[in-house]
Amino acid sequence: MLPGVLIQGCSRYTFCMQKKFVIGNWKMYPSTLREAKELFTKIRNSQRSKKNTEVVVCPPSVYLSDLGKISGKGGVRIGAQDAFWEYEGSYTGNISASMIKHLGAEYVILGHSERRVLGETSEQVSMKVSKVLKEGLSPIVCIGERERDSEGAHLGYIENELSESIKGVRRKDISKVVIAYEPVWAIGKSAKNAMSPEDIRVMSIYIRKILSNIYGRKLAENVPILYGGSVDSTIVRDIIIDGGVDGVLVGKQSRRPDEFQKIIEIINNV
Ligand code: PGA
Repeated sequence: MLPGVLIQGCSRYTFCMQKKFVIGNWKMYPSTLREAKELFTKIRNSQRSKKNTEVVVCPPSVYLSDLGKISGKGGVRIGAQDAFWEYEGSYTGNISASMIKHLGAEYVILGHSERRVLGETSEQVSMKVSKVLKEGLSPIVCIGERERDSEGAHLGYIENELSESIKGVRRKDISKVVIAYEPVWAIGKSAKNAMSPEDIRVMSIYIRKILSNIYGRKLAENVPILYGGSVDSTIVRDIIIDGGVDGVLVGKQSRRPDEFQKIIEIINNV
């Protein structure tokens, strides 16, 4: 049975078997709070009757407070795009997991390739993951190779990146972690550049095997594995069914309410 996601009615941190994740990563958009509220409200209103999906919106941190207030009963959860590994201190420009938590967020994206390319290491990601878990939030840990080669070097790359990024996560906490597999070469393009569902399936099985080697099969089965990279409504059904993943992490299309709504709708009906 495929793992599913945290749902109402399940205790916090119980990943139930029925739901799939749809996570929107807004990146550094939109440029005003007014636009952010409008976008969020549209997504929230369209999500109301979608019982089979866990929808999470990750806006820029400056909007978390306002969106947290209007997320209300609509069923859309809020997440941040990063969190620092210290509680507080002289760390100019950083935001702690506890600050994020107090704004109503429940998830934090960590180790996105757009941060790794600026120098963030897997060791730093693992420190952030530990802190986020300590604060009772769920980390969405991003991994993904920059390129592929016919020799399969990307497999070793993924194994290292994943195991180093979750280093220190205890057995009792691993079910609170969400893994987002996002091959860097597939991010920010169009659907035809996304990974094929068959390859996604191979990678999701491989990632679960890595988790299984570290935590054992039973615990590994409860970790949601998502795909990200040029996901849109034309390919999402195949990604879920043939790719065998537990949801998607969506960038560009999560800022287009009609398109994001379609993605949610399709996943909700799979
Ligand atoms: P994309 O972004 O959907 O625009 O490819 C995905 C991501 O970077 O998380």
